[in-house]
Amino acid sequence: MASKQVIGVFDSGYGGLTILQEIRALLPQYDYVYLGDNARTPYGNRSFEVVYQFTRQAVLKLFEMQCQLVILACNTASAKALRTIQQHDLPALGSDKRVLGIIRPTTEMIGSLTKTRHVGLLGTEGTISSGSYGMETRKLFPDIVLTGQACPMWVPLVENGEAASDGADYFVRQYIDALLQKDPDIDLVVLACTHYPLLYDKIRRYLPGHIQIVNQGPLVAHSLQDYLQRHQEIAQNLGQNGRCAYYTTEQSDKFARSASVFLQRSVQASHLDI
Ligand code: DGL
Repeated sequence: MASKQVIGVFDSGYGGLTILQEIRALLPQYDYVYLGDNARTPYGNRSFEVVYQFTRQAVLKLFEMQCQLVILACNTASAKALRTIQQHDLPALGSDKRVLGIIRPTTEMIGSLTKTRHVGLLGTEGTISSGSYGMETRKLFPDIVLTGQACPMWVPLVENGEAASDGADYFVRQYIDALLQKDPDIDLVVLACTHYPLLYDKIRRYLPGHIQIVNQGPLVAHSLQDYLQRHQEIAQNLGQNGRCAYYTTEQSDKFARSASVFLQRSVQASHLDI
């Protein structure tokens, strides 16, 4: 009998842990592999071609590691690489492997959450300039005015363990002020980068109280649950031992230390070249 498959979760670094955490809380029975490309993070200011190549390498590696299904738990990779991987690489591989992104499940929710129909989007330069959220939003909710703000300093703060520092306040406030200056009618802000929940307390502090914040983790987790219910041919092949293995392209001990802080429990990690 073929060995059981695992669900792969990929991000450029630690950010995808905020998605993995919510997925495992909702679907604890499955086996997972997390891969962070910490050696090459951040992806946010890289070109389409580079983000595509890095993401493709990671996805192929996860396929080798018995992942039948890979979640790009990274908005930048979802914006810049998902479509090409789905439309070009998967058909060329001729396989039954699947790759899912996180932009669509996030966008689907915003229509029911905003009253003013003015929504703010905080993301990496790559995600904001790709226009991916705008395209999805126009398809689903043409009446919504979406205003983006790139926050290039936020991922480096998280990756360098500075998310809780006093210095981080300056940059959190700077981008929030810039967003609200562009559109003061915003009543909903989407954290369109999986690293940003790690700055949540500061973001909440500097956003006016009437503005709601959308955190992607629970949305992606529910969307995956729904996907697996609709795709029993995939769900039935998944191992169900509740395990998760962590891999990083950087030093494993450094990753394990930081991931343990983010996840608030002890994590072992291994180094992987991709
Ligand atoms: N966590 C990634 C995202 O959701 C971005 C991190 C990066 O810039 O590498 O967009």
